[in-house]
Amino acid sequence: MGIILKSPDQIEGIRESSILAAECLDEVTPYVKEGVTTARLNQIVHEYIYDNDAKAATIGYKGYKHATCISPNDVICHGVPSNKVVVKDGDILNIDVTTILDGFYGDNSRMYMVGNVTDNARQIVEAAKTCLDIGIKQCYPGNYVGNIGYEIAKYAEGLGYSIVFEFCGHGVGIRFHEEPEVAHKAEKNSGPIMKPGMTFTIEPMINEGKARAKVDRSDGWTARTIDGKLSAQWEHTLLITKEGVEVLTDIHGEYPKPLKLI
Ligand code: MF3
Ligand code: CO
Ligand code: CO
Repeated sequence: MGIILKSPDQIEGIRESSILAAECLDEVTPYVKEGVTTARLNQIVHEYIYDNDAKAATIGYKGYKHATCISPNDVICHGVPSNKVVVKDGDILNIDVTTILDGFYGDNSRMYMVGNVTDNARQIVEAAKTCLDIGIKQCYPGNYVGNIGYEIAKYAEGLGYSIVFEFCGHGVGIRFHEEPEVAHKAEKNSGPIMKPGMTFTIEPMINEGKARAKVDRSDGWTARTIDGKLSAQWEHTLLITKEGVEVLTDIHGEYPKPLKLI
């Protein structure tokens, strides 16, 4: 199939879906508190998506049944929302949501810190966010996709973290998971070259201990660190433009918008 370069109309659709996906994470923020279940947090996002005439991309995806993945502490990704998982003081958790609006996909996730978190926990959350930002800085036409992972791994490993290699970023927009695969640890100047019209995610997962993941046998989804140590992840959907990159899931004006040449 190859990498899909999106048309201006497709980009507009992906932009709208990405905004909605980011709004979901704003919407759920005030509810992320000690005592709430991850099933309840999922329900809030679920309702917000369907109230906005969209769908959750994860529902029905390879048999997955929920509008979000919610991954606390040692869960790397694909944490299954459950009324048995109660958020505790000191938890760090990732909430990941992918929307389908008018057929277009937007994908993002953030970390949330609950109450009094340890210094270690805060540090891995902040380092994972910096990994995402470092990856975004590598996004411009003519650069290699591999340089995203090269720079992320250099930074995170320098701090003593390991990089999860079993899950990657991905092209997104027309389908949930498109080419290219965006590894968060890669060789310098490897992989495809970025071109205007490419849309993909960067979603680094970094671990305090070993890099490997093991999936819970009970649900077949929840991916945990093999040593029980912490993991953290942030994700944005990006568009490569002629001038550089636009962070489509940035609804807070955190990243500069590229000038649009008419
Ligand atoms: N949103 C995740 C990603 O960033 C994928 C979740 S797939 C699921 O690619 F089936 F686990 F929900
Ligand atoms: Co993704
Ligand atoms: Co995601």
